[in-house]
Amino acid sequence: MSVEREPIGVIGTGYVGLVTAVGFAEAGSHVWCVDIDQAKIKRLRRGEVPIHEPGLQELLERNGERLDFSAELSGALENARLLFVAVGTPPTASGDADLSAVHEVVGAMPSSGEHALVMKSTVPCGTGASIKRILREERRAGFSYVSCPEFLKEGSAVADFLHPDRVVIGDDGDWAGDAVARLYEPFRAPLIRTDIASAEMIKLASNAFLATKISFINEIANVCEALGADVVEVARGMGLDVRIGPKFLHAGLGYGGSCFTKDVSALKLLAGNSGYHFQLLNAVIEVNELQKRRVVAKLQRHLGELASKRIALLGLAFKPNTDDMRGASSIVLAARLRAEGAEVRAYDPIAEQEARKLMPALQYASSAHEAVSGADAVVLVTEWPEFVQLDFSQVAAAMRGNVVIDGRNALNPQAVRAAGLIYEGVGRR
Ligand code: UDX
Repeated sequence: MSVEREPIGVIGTGYVGLVTAVGFAEAGSHVWCVDIDQAKIKRLRRGEVPIHEPGLQELLERNGERLDFSAELSGALENARLLFVAVGTPPTASGDADLSAVHEVVGAMPSSGEHALVMKSTVPCGTGASIKRILREERRAGFSYVSCPEFLKEGSAVADFLHPDRVVIGDDGDWAGDAVARLYEPFRAPLIRTDIASAEMIKLASNAFLATKISFINEIANVCEALGADVVEVARGMGLDVRIGPKFLHAGLGYGGSCFTKDVSALKLLAGNSGYHFQLLNAVIEVNELQKRRVVAKLQRHLGELASKRIALLGLAFKPNTDDMRGASSIVLAARLRAEGAEVRAYDPIAEQEARKLMPALQYASSAHEAVSGADAVVLVTEWPEFVQLDFSQVAAAMRGNVVIDGRNALNPQAVRAAGLIYEGVGRR
């Protein structure tokens, strides 16, 4: 892919920023990365990737000579016109997006007629307009502004960046939108050029729609449980309708991660703040919350009171191939089980360190085998391949009880039952 291309700055080296930086470096740009976290900058300069993301380390090493890491903005400002902003926009206590990091970046910009802020962070619709107003009022109107939302998924972020389904660019029709479009040319993705507010809304609406699809199939799963249908068969039949599609129809313990939980709530509140009551999203959020808790009732049905029962949790991360614990269903589930008096022992191949920060009192096993040993019930929380491939006759031999709750419908029910265990999935017959 590499030909010499326009240099860029990337402010913020979290998931989105780092992947954006190495992705554009791979395409031939020199990338000036900036982060206020000095320790992180030091690690990145040593070539260490601070997050677990398949392919990121290799890409960083391969493009090291085109990647510059600094805690200062000056290098990026001197060497690049396009400054991609990829700082965090976590939820505030009220559920709105916290834009303080974005505003710090805006506040640090000098007056310039030759730079553009390219917003990668997920921000409420209307943020671009308010940032442009701030820049105008502070006599920095020469700064251009582009909204370029990122759609990458954790665990496949590098591949998603290099092979996007689409690239969305919202701009004012000046040089900056064209320059961003040229940067994306090597990725050969369908390009949507639109206004800034619509680009911001595309991102929020996409995440809210995907979350809605998950909550919908989870409700179908719950009805299937009551009526004796199998949600896996139902989703297979629904998904073949090209208008519906097969993706995001996997019933389970609910969605987690930083984006869906944050963006669904941010969109709901954004609508509310502008006077519109987004009823559907209330239901999406509530279904998701309840879905994590349904496992407790299932375990009680099999085991009676959970006090002193030993429950093994296989997986803690919000999905496989990541150590990210933000919004993970395991957090609510572990807390509920412990509140019922259960003894909870968990194992995750890589998320333990992150999990310990949030759940220091949980018991952590160092292998799946250790987690299930002596357990009355096993709950599959994250569908890591090593759990899907477990030999359930060995699991059965190690357990004290015989209940397996497959929270992701990822196990082979026949194999589990053949081992003499009780199998219960989500919405499965
Ligand atoms: C999501 C969006 O997919 C991505 O476009 C956006 O940029 C960021 O948010 P991510 O949070 O990395 O990406 O994970 P994703 O793979 O979308 O999964 C989110 C959650 O939904 C996971 O907890 C997953 O287990 C759950 N999920 C997903 C389901 O429960 N069922 C499904 O069918 C799909």
